[in-house]
Amino acid sequence: MEIKILGVCGSPIKRGNTEIFLEETLKAAREMENVKTEAVFLSEKDISDCQHCNWCLTGQKPGQFCKQNDDMNGIYPLLVETDGLLLASPVYFGRLSGRMACFIDRLRAFTHGKYYRGRLKGKVGGALAVGWTRHGGVETTLLSLNFAFSSLGMLTAYERGISSGAGGVSSPGGAGKLVPDDKLTVLKDEYGLKSARRLAKRTVELIRMTKLGKSA
Ligand SMILES: Cc1cc2nc3c(=O)[nH]c(=O)nc-3n(C[C@H](O)[C@H](O)[C@H](O)COP(=O)(O)O)c2cc1C
Repeated sequence: MEIKILGVCGSPIKRGNTEIFLEETLKAAREMENVKTEAVFLSEKDISDCQHCNWCLTGQKPGQFCKQNDDMNGIYPLLVETDGLLLASPVYFGRLSGRMACFIDRLRAFTHGKYYRGRLKGKVGGALAVGWTRHGGVETTLLSLNFAFSSLGMLTAYERGISSGAGGVSSPGGAGKLVPDDKLTVLKDEYGLKSARRLAKRTVELIRMTKLGKSA
C-alpha cells in the first residue's frame, strides 16, 4: 500500500531550521516501506490572506478551489492527493508564523467549499514547530497547528511523549544563546529530532490503519 505524505513549511527563511526539521521528518517517513513524500516551502510561494469573500461556498468547482489566483493553485491538488500532512512552523511570538497562518486560512476551501468541503477529513496531520528557546512557545504553536487539523476533520498524530507534535529548538539546548557560526542548531537538538522521527512513524502508522479500515 503506497502512502503519500506532504510536508508544508511556514518559515520565510530558505534552508532555515524549520525547513531542515521538516526535511528530517520526511526522511524518517521515507525510511518506512512504500512511503513517498513531497515538500512545499512557503518561503518560495506567494500566498495571500483568505479574503473571506465566501466565493468557495457557492462558486467552487472541480479544479477551482478558490477565487484568488496565486500559488495555492498548485498546492490544493497536492492536499487532495495526500494521505498525510505535516505542517511545520517557526515559533513567532508564541504562535505560528504569518505565512503558515495565511496558508491555513486558505484551507477554508476544504471546510466550507461547495465542491471540496470535507476532502481532508480522515487524513492524518502531524505538527512540527521550531523556536529559539525551550519555553518560548513551541507548545502553543503546535497546539495552533493541531487545532487546524481538527477543524478540517483530520486525525492528529499524537502519541505518548509527543502528545502535541514535535518541537525543536534553534539555540543550543534551547537556552537562547546566539552562536553566530551555527545557523542550523536544530540539527543538534537530539530530543527534538527524536520527536520528529517518532512523529513521522506515528503519522505513517495512523495512515496505514485508516487506509486499511477504509478498504475494509
Ligand atoms: C518575528 C519573530 C518572532 C519570534 N518569536 C519567538 C518566540 O516567541 N519564541 C521563540 O522561542 N522564538 C521566537 N522567534 C525565533 C524563531 O522561532 C527561531 O529563530 C526559529 O528557529 C526560526 O526558524 P527558521 O530558522 O526556520 O527561520 C521569533 C523569530 C521571529 C522572526
